[in-house]
Amino acid sequence: MKIMDSKEIRKLFLEFFENNGHKIVSSSSLIPTDPSVLFTTAGMQQFKPYFVGEKSPYGNRVVSVQKCIRTSDIDEVGDESHLTFFEMLGNFSFGDYFKKETIEMAIEFLTKKCRLPGQKLWFTYFSGQNDLLEDIDSKNFLLENKISPERIFPFNKETNWWGPTGNEGPCGPTVEIHFDLTGKPCDLKDKCLPNCKCGRFVEIWNLVFNEYYQNQTGELSLLKQKGVDTGMGLERLVTACQKKESVFETDLFEPFVKIINRYDNPVKQRIIADHVRSAVFLITEGIKPLNVERGYILRRLLRKIFTNIEILELGKDKIYELVKVVIENYNGIYPELKQNGEDTISIIRQEAEKFDKAKEAGRKIYDKIKESGLTGAYAFELYSAHSIPLEITQEWARRDNKEIKNINDFYKLQKEHQEISRAGAEKKFGGVGKGASLEAIKLHTATHLLHASLRKILGDEIKQMGSDITPERLRFDFSFNRKLSEQEIRQVEDLVNQKIRENVMIIKNELPLKEALNSGATAFFKEKYPDIVTVYSIGEFSKEICAGPHVTQTGDLDNFKIMKQESVGSGIRRIKAKLSL
Ligand code: SER
Repeated sequence: MKIMDSKEIRKLFLEFFENNGHKIVSSSSLIPTDPSVLFTTAGMQQFKPYFVGEKSPYGNRVVSVQKCIRTSDIDEVGDESHLTFFEMLGNFSFGDYFKKETIEMAIEFLTKKCRLPGQKLWFTYFSGQNDLLEDIDSKNFLLENKISPERIFPFNKETNWWGPTGNEGPCGPTVEIHFDLTGKPCDLKDKCLPNCKCGRFVEIWNLVFNEYYQNQTGELSLLKQKGVDTGMGLERLVTACQKKESVFETDLFEPFVKIINRYDNPVKQRIIADHVRSAVFLITEGIKPLNVERGYILRRLLRKIFTNIEILELGKDKIYELVKVVIENYNGIYPELKQNGEDTISIIRQEAEKFDKAKEAGRKIYDKIKESGLTGAYAFELYSAHSIPLEITQEWARRDNKEIKNINDFYKLQKEHQEISRAGAEKKFGGVGKGASLEAIKLHTATHLLHASLRKILGDEIKQMGSDITPERLRFDFSFNRKLSEQEIRQVEDLVNQKIRENVMIIKNELPLKEALNSGATAFFKEKYPDIVTVYSIGEFSKEICAGPHVTQTGDLDNFKIMKQESVGSGIRRIKAKLSL
């Protein structure tokens, strides 16, 4: 039997669901419109409104392959199955089919189309917890599909419940499908079941049955319209189909691993391969390495790559070879990678140079202290003041045959440092929960007004480079290569406030992408948009492609005030502003 490659498997999935009445929708951007989440982590995110009653422009059955970034898994990368970037295969129903058909189609796809052996598929479902009942229906449908009861297990909310993403949204019980990679139980013997940590099982598909809506205070109410959201990691499915035991052995990763060629150090090899994919995708979305938020994640990924390349002594240029592999691997699937290829390489190069400079400065200090005694506290100093990762200091020490004493002090200090930053972040995001959403919506509308005002006052070449909202303020990054004068700041502020006073209605329209762009609507993402996009217009003043939500009229906003302007890299300015009574 021919082993399918990842491109064939991706296609097989889309075709199977298309033949079952689903419309194929392209992946949305990795940067979600929902301001409460940093990255797109699941296929359902772009469809969130259709689960709660808004009419889907694609019909009520859709299928997609979504680019995702999950930073929560960043420290687990290095094992057989965890990744920071992955593609999620998903089929969705908005008030159309429910548990029965979802389970039938999933089993049919895996056993008939992918021809995975039935006895290697294990299932978990929601056991019930507190006021929530056991999901007996799902269990029965599994049994009706001839799944042996010995491979069906109930688990609680922690495992078999999903959602919401962000502060509120649809959620519900799940059925998880796990694949038995090795067929060999660990020391736990017959207690080695799905979710066992030994690596025998890998969760491949999560079938979420959205029956509830969770509001910002955590209360659940039944959704009028039931929905299905499924997510299957392409890399993991490919591992199963290609009869491998690790995602890194599949055709998706083989070319990276061949270039790195350090099978003696599989963990570092895997970290490099995974992080290069994520970094290339993030840079392609317009993210730059910075010290905050998305840019910070990118910086962290890049520095981890540089560090591991140095430790493995692969030579500095290895990374560029790997970047080319990412671009080549997705040729024809995500053409934007190739279109931005040169920029991607130059951004990585600049960051590599910065890192080299930091290392040079750090190395001087290291050389001074290495004679008098290296300690964990010194290593922390190098890390916090000079951005030298502990692994680099350890590597220098190893090459010098030196020992870092009291290394635990490093971890202790790092933890303290993290706690201080976390407290700061909580303060910043405090109140995400009660009442935050209306504030966020108002700030979102204010962001559109600000964007339009900047263009009116400074010129149409202003381009949005990023934005973000917390309950207290909005942040808007845009291309502009000098500081705004006090007078310009006042003019922008006044124009926004004038529009607020005019109490202009905000009109939402659904249009084919081309028409939207031709009509002059501004579009932020360099990314592919869906065929049909939503355009929000504020009179003649502002028109943007945007997923919303917005207030109904500008008079709903309070007085607009710019608090700060700063530079965040060459040619990029940042404005922070708020609304206050
Ligand atoms: N939203 C679910 C998940 O991310 C299924 O798509 O696992």
